[in-house]
Amino acid sequence: MAILVTGGLGYIGSHTVVELINNNYEVVIVDDLSHSEKFILNNIEEITGKRPIFYPFDLKRKELLNQVFEAHNIEGCINFAAFKAVGESQEKPVDYYENNLFSLINILQEFKERNISNFIFSSSCTVYGQADEMPINEETPLKTPESVYGKTKQMGEEILMDFAKAYNRKISLLRYFNPIGAHESGLIGELPIGTPANLVPYVMQTAAGIREKLNVWGNDYPTEDGTAVRDYIHITDLAKAHVAALRRLMNDGSEETVIDIFNLGTGKGASVLEVVKAFEIANNVQVPYQICERRAGDIVIAYANADKAERELNWKSETLLEDSLKTVWGWQKYLNARIKE
Ligand code: WQD
Repeated sequence: MAILVTGGLGYIGSHTVVELINNNYEVVIVDDLSHSEKFILNNIEEITGKRPIFYPFDLKRKELLNQVFEAHNIEGCINFAAFKAVGESQEKPVDYYENNLFSLINILQEFKERNISNFIFSSSCTVYGQADEMPINEETPLKTPESVYGKTKQMGEEILMDFAKAYNRKISLLRYFNPIGAHESGLIGELPIGTPANLVPYVMQTAAGIREKLNVWGNDYPTEDGTAVRDYIHITDLAKAHVAALRRLMNDGSEETVIDIFNLGTGKGASVLEVVKAFEIANNVQVPYQICERRAGDIVIAYANADKAERELNWKSETLLEDSLKTVWGWQKYLNARIKE
């Protein structure tokens, strides 16, 4: 019996694979290595003492995916595989719809044919757009996301809910806020591919001297210090929530359709400048920055009400912002050492 983890060598995928193995699940990874590297598999083995089964397949290739289901008794799936760069999604909408949705549908075809349940979907708080009230809970009305990336997440949720209802299956939609940090070992983290779009990887590279200075996208927002506010959740806490969500589906002995939805955040907001300051204090480094114009499509503020996950998954975020940012610096030091090898 195995759990299929698509995108399992990616940032959130690799940390979730570690937690799955730590909880004695057998893991089968399918990852096309478009946004990850093979050494992450070696490091997962170093962290856990177990090497997950790995297929370097593109999920859009039905015949390859079928081989995986033929070879393994898949009992559930955690689906991370997706392109996720908000800005790039505006320039390449067809690539994003094709990659993010065709791969999802191919997996669901296999689930349908083989009567498999227990599907966990990597969704995002972006489905709420700029919510009218804070904190954001699971009943907060959805808004059509501005970005194509966000639309693929919202469409993915719709496809999965129709799948669950039509075929009486169990699914869980996990709406992440802003994942940050790295594994405490410093062996896995957010791989910087190209220029980081997200805040924390850019802060990391600025502190490391890879980037000259951080562009702070706007300080004229209606917030305490004028910079935008987000809910930054530590990656290992987020990974543990996936194991809890999977366990809940698999332990649900009923014949009922299950559609779980959970907001996964810390419940606290932090501004851009607060993150910069916390990074500097946590790691005793400087992060030079300049204030720039707002970034198109950015919302002002988003932070979660994560009570439902605490209640129903017996899970809550435990890592403080500064502690999470310390792990980021540990990961950067590992990457520096790798380059010197
Ligand atoms: C956070 C804040 C920026 C970079 C998106 C997706 C979300 C998830 C995470 C994939 C914003 C500011 C950023 C920089 C800056 N997707 N910023 N300078 O946009 O909240 O969320 O990425 O995992 O679904 O919507 O995250 O880290 O890009 O930005 O000032 O160089 O930091 O303006 O206010 P975002 P982010």
